Order: sequence, then C-alpha cells, then structure tokens
Amino acid sequence: MNLSMTEHKVGTGSETIAILDFGSQYSQLIARRVREAHVYCELFPHDASAEEVLACHPRGFILSGGPRSVYEPDAPRLPPYVLESGLPVLGICYGMQLLAHALGGRVASAQRREYGPADLTLTDPTCPLFYSLQSATLPVWMSHGDRIESLPPGFHTVARTANAPIAAMADPERNLYGLQFHPEVRHTPQGATILRNFLFRVCGLTGNWTPARFVEDAVAAIRRRVGEGRVLCALSGGVDSAVVATLVHRAVGDQLTCVFVDHGLLRRGEAEQVVHTFKRELGMRLVAVNAVEEYLDALRGVTDPEEKRRIIGEKFVRIFEREARRLGRFDFLAQGTIYPDVIESAGTGRPGAHRIKTHHNVGGLPEDLSLKLVEPLRFLFKDEVRAVGRELGLPDAIIHRQPFPGPGLAVRILGEVTWERLETLRAADAIFLEELAAAGLLRQHGGEGTAQAFAVLLPVRSVGVMGDGRTYAHVIALRAVTTDDFMTADWARLPYDLLAKVSNRIVNEVAGVNRVVYDISSKPPATIEWE
Ligand code: XMP
Repeated sequence: MNLSMTEHKVGTGSETIAILDFGSQYSQLIARRVREAHVYCELFPHDASAEEVLACHPRGFILSGGPRSVYEPDAPRLPPYVLESGLPVLGICYGMQLLAHALGGRVASAQRREYGPADLTLTDPTCPLFYSLQSATLPVWMSHGDRIESLPPGFHTVARTANAPIAAMADPERNLYGLQFHPEVRHTPQGATILRNFLFRVCGLTGNWTPARFVEDAVAAIRRRVGEGRVLCALSGGVDSAVVATLVHRAVGDQLTCVFVDHGLLRRGEAEQVVHTFKRELGMRLVAVNAVEEYLDALRGVTDPEEKRRIIGEKFVRIFEREARRLGRFDFLAQGTIYPDVIESAGTGRPGAHRIKTHHNVGGLPEDLSLKLVEPLRFLFKDEVRAVGRELGLPDAIIHRQPFPGPGLAVRILGEVTWERLETLRAADAIFLEELAAAGLLRQHGGEGTAQAFAVLLPVRSVGVMGDGRTYAHVIALRAVTTDDFMTADWARLPYDLLAKVSNRIVNEVAGVNRVVYDISSKPPATIEWE
C-alpha cells in the first residue's frame, strides 16, 4: 500500500501524560480516566522507544499494571528514560513494583494472590494523592500476585490493606508514587479523585484539554499539514467520518471533497440525511455516488454472509477509487481512525481483543492513489469523538447514531439481498427505531435503553391469518441489546407494551410481513448481528 503513514498529533497542548502499558487489561481505562479529567494522554507499549514517548513532551508518567512478576527473567523492565526524566511517576500495581524494584526496594510473591475488593486505610492522609478523599478508609480494587516487602530509600508507606502492608508508597521529594490497587476501575469509587490528584497536585496540570480546545488545535494542525493540498474523504453516515469531514472542512474549506457511496444498504432516510447535512447545511463539496444497482447486481444470488461482506468491501474500494480518479488529483485522504483502532493495531491491545470494526470501514483503501493520511481522531476515544461532534454543531442524529455495520442491511437480510427485501426490512426497521426513539430508548443510560437496536428479515415464511384469509408471509426478528463494549452484550429488557405496539404496527404497515419475533439471546453465545 502506497500510503504515507506520517502522523500528525493534535490536541496535545502543553499538558500531556504518557502512560506506559505493561499489559494490564485496564491500561485503556487509565487513559480514559485521565482524559475524563481533561488531561491529554497517550498510551505507549512499554517497549516503545524513548524518542517516541518523549516526543509527546510528557509532564508525567503513569506505569500500568501487568500480568508478570518483576523477577521473571524476561519480564518487562522500567525503561531508564522514565526516572532519568525527573518527571513525576505514578506506578499502578506492576508499575509500582517496577518502581520499587528499580529503586532498591524488595518485591516478593504474596502468600496468596489478592483479587477483588479490599479496604484501604490511609496511613499518611497528608499524601497529595489523597487530597479531598471522603474518608480515611476506602474501598479499592486489588488484582496482584506480588507485593512490596520493603520500600526503596526515600519512600514511605501512605496506605495499607489487611493483605498488603505497603498498599501505597510515596517519595514526595522526587514526585514518585506507587499504588498496589487499581484507581482506574469503577470498583475503586474514589479512584478518579486519586488520579486527578496525581495530575493536578503532583504534576501541576490544569486540565485544559476540552473539546473546544481540541477543535482549535486540530484545525490548526490540519491547516499546517495540508497547506494548499487537496483532501479526499469517504463519508459513511457514521459519527467518525462525519466529525473528520467537518474538522477538515473547517480547516481547509473547499480543498476537501467528500465522497459518499450510496450502496442502497442503508436504513430509511440515511442517504438523504448525509447529503442534506453535509451538502446543504454544512456547505461541503460532496459527491454522492448512486451505486445501488451496482451493488444489487454484485449481490444477486449471494447468501453466504462472509461472501456478502467481501463483495461489499471490494466494491467500495473500486467505486471510491474510480470517483477519486474522476475528481482529479488529491494529496491527502482524511480518515476516521480512532484511538482504540490505533491501540489495537499498535500491539498494545490485549491478546484476544477483538476488532469491532472490520476492514472495509477504516481500511480497504485505494492502493495506488499515493495519498497521505490525515487522521485527526487518531488519539480520541469514541465518547470524545461525540463530544467533538457536538462542539462542531453536528446534529444529534449523527452524533448519537448507534453503530451500524459497514455491509449495512445486507447482513440483516438473511439469504439473498434484493431491492424488494431491502424495502421490507427498511420499513420494519424504521417502525422499530421510531418507537424506541419515542420511548427514549434509542440510547443506553446505564443498563437501560439500547446500545444497538434493529430489525432482521428472516429467510422463512410462516402461516398467519388476516381478515378472513390465510397468509403465508415473511418473519421479522427484532434485535435490541445493551452493552458497554460490543464484545459481550445482553438482550434489552424492552417493555412488553412497546414490543406489542411495534409488532402490531409492523404487521399492519409493512406489506408481506405477518409475524414478528423478539431475539432473547445474549452474546456470547449469539452475536449481536444475525450474520
Ligand atoms: P457482532 O455481530 O459480532 O457485532 O456481535 C459486534 C459489533 O460489530 C458490528 N459489526 C460490524 N461492523 N462491519 C462492521 O463495520 C461488519 O462486517 C460487522 N459485523 C458486525 C455490529 O453491528 C456490532 O456493533
């Protein structure tokens, strides 16, 4: 692939925290908590080069936990630049043990592994990390095998638990701190305060990283990078590409051309909304390609889900490439890559971590257009992308759009995709979404509402009776789930009255459907989509 991967970083301002990932399942959570405190941070693999890490001009380091023991011969080490920098350091769990080990303390296997809740007693409540905590004893979450047996010189114990006499240690002179417990998880209810204390009281940061600030920095960075060049961007209707296009448009105006490929597999009104929002309201140069016939031809007779995905992904690349050539010469390609994609592909992701997005959404790029990438969301989490979208004034319908798979309705029509079946599904799906929206259930708040909801057209017919006649018609399945990460999910406990209304409306309003069923499977063992 002939794409320059030169990155540009935006929004770093002057207050960045570098988080070194030693393999904990919670490393991304640390980053999220830091960002929630309006402090910009980046997560690096523990073996990233000093140059790479120091290039973000950190004002402090956080060392994550990890599954290893510091005494194992090939266990990850504390990179020398961390202590040499003289910057504040917070070591969490394995990170604390690394600090202790590197500075002359003693780490040993605990008699028993400690995993789960514990009560932390502050032995030095004046420690800056504990500023404004509600009580002298607090619930914390422990997950460790080893523990600190003796402190390195210069440190003192600031908290203990029943099983860990040195549950937190501090060397305020050198601004070095260690926590045996995990402040980043929700099971440590005051953990966010402890992390904020590290950021604001120890590192002296002010927490100036806001969506408005990000937009300002991103626009300036895009202008610098793009100069007089021309930028191409593929709009999908999803929040990431919408935010990218809007940022780039704000930065370089008509030097940006957006291409929207309407493959005919979108939900009701979506294609029109994309054109309306970006062309009419935001005034962007938008080329909408009607490729519906082309997709339908390519999908004729295809029933295998993976084959559908392959065809749709490949077609997208072809069409996008064709349009790009037709539109003249471009220098840059703006993409909606977001931080979780970057973390996973950089290998700091946990083994077994899933790619939620499949390739044709973010990758599958034209091979030989020689475009350089512009990826302003590369360092943002999904909720931050939404906050930036709000800041840019994008409509709620786009900002809070539930995830929608790249292959669209093709994987929600079991069996062959035809125009008639697409229209049947679109009509049923629109009713379901309309009723959920009216009931305020199209978003998830805690365990309530839905994180993703849609209709599926099944490849079977069933017998029914309507008026005086017997019918033999299609079955629609309704799928609605709650989930935090889309890797596991539970079926949404929707009110019966709502399900009754949706079912009644679908059978009455959608020709050719006489039966509606509700999917009550969780993931695993089922998946969210049916194909
Ligand atoms: P599953 O069905 O695997 O879905 O539980 C998890 C999440 O991924 C979405 N999904 C896809 N997204 N291309 C996409 O861009 C795909 O082929 C695809 N398949 C599933 C799904 O909608 C859910 O949010």
